[in-house]
Amino acid sequence: MPKAWEGRFTGKPDVRAEAFTSSLAFDRRLAVQDVTGSIAHARMLARSGVIGRQEGELIVAGLERIREELADGTFPFRREAEDIHLNIEKRLVELIGPVGGKLHTARSRNDQVALDLHLYLRETTDEVREAIRRLQRALFRRAAEELESGTILPGYTHLQQAQPVLLAHHLLAYFWMLDRDWERFRQVDDSCDRSPLGAAALAGTSFPVDPVWTAGELGFSRLYENSVDAVSDRDFACEFLFGCALLGAHLSRLAEELVIWSTREFGFIRFADAYATGSSIMPQKKNPDTAELVRGKTGRLYGNLLGLLTVLKGLPLAYGSDLQEDKEKVFDSADTVLACLDVAEGICSTLEFRRERMREMVDETSLVTDLADHLASKGVPFREAHAMVGKLVRWCEEEGRRLSSLTTAELGEFSIHLDQEAVALLDPAAVVARRRSPGGTAPGRVAEELTRARKCLMV
Ligand code: ARG
Repeated sequence: MPKAWEGRFTGKPDVRAEAFTSSLAFDRRLAVQDVTGSIAHARMLARSGVIGRQEGELIVAGLERIREELADGTFPFRREAEDIHLNIEKRLVELIGPVGGKLHTARSRNDQVALDLHLYLRETTDEVREAIRRLQRALFRRAAEELESGTILPGYTHLQQAQPVLLAHHLLAYFWMLDRDWERFRQVDDSCDRSPLGAAALAGTSFPVDPVWTAGELGFSRLYENSVDAVSDRDFACEFLFGCALLGAHLSRLAEELVIWSTREFGFIRFADAYATGSSIMPQKKNPDTAELVRGKTGRLYGNLLGLLTVLKGLPLAYGSDLQEDKEKVFDSADTVLACLDVAEGICSTLEFRRERMREMVDETSLVTDLADHLASKGVPFREAHAMVGKLVRWCEEEGRRLSSLTTAELGEFSIHLDQEAVALLDPAAVVARRRSPGGTAPGRVAEELTRARKCLMV
């Protein structure tokens, strides 16, 4: 018996062509979404009188059986059936007989696969957002502890010591970065909130369908305005891949910082043994390879985004098989960000902060902005104050002297406003506490920041 979808074809396909065009190996991941979409479609067909009520019930019951088979692992996947959609349809006919062939009335695999991907991405953006929240919670907890202990570390610009900051403040910078990711995936979800069902192959259908009803059944709040656009749009997938790429950039920055901090040269943190590995040759090694891999995996997130953008470029309307290339990229990015978020949460929750070491590494020269500010407060134009203190720092460097060791006379050489009292302002905790501008690193400000962060976590 010829397969229903063989249409005008006779004879067997070339085995190479068959293997080449088959997407089952990866689109089987859309099996559940495919069944869900088909059930809604079958119900709509019956409601609209396109198929009989009983026929609709039979089809839905068959699809429910298939859902169970998928859940308990007994569904018979067949590679020769090309993709997940044909696999499920074939199985349906096997289970309920020729009436199963009515399911595909007023539908094409083009709107079907678009629907499945929309459904998949709506679920996946939820998962990603939850995983982002878990990492944010870990950072929040660590920040709260470190605010409590008043931990100070050197703050950097250009990876040169700039001004000291509270460790809590530094950690919360990642919290807010991730908060934007969380919000961005909400927007991605919004882009996925459009049902393509009813567009059929590209032009719509001659059957009296009710796509508004199916959309509602499937949790969509709107439809595509245009059937051609509905089957050819993959913007929502690009947006998802972009969200993953940028999230990857953020996780990679965090990972890189932790790698640097774990070196002997910095020595700011120790990775928990559970998140590090040894070397097969060097007994002393403890490698932060979980963080290195988070950093490294960002490459595929960028690649997937660029890959899909490239697939879309130059693709004429409406559907082209090129679009089959969207899925592996989407699945890979989803798996990758979820794994990275998960391991980053583990790393952050278990690493040890070496508070003493951080404090010790605050160099006194990173405090001298406050000396310039002090001169400015005495009426010296800030530019001049900046130059005077610059000379002072340079002189200390050349003479091998510490600022705190200079006599009043020596200080007076640089400015009449400089004395030991002014130099005494240069305590790291005091320098930090003076940065009370909104969003600054003063403990009171960071406490407010934590309160706002807690509120975000409650949504
Ligand atoms: N496997 C296809 C995909 O992933 C499903 C849609 C195929 N449609 C078609 N007319 N060949 O995009």
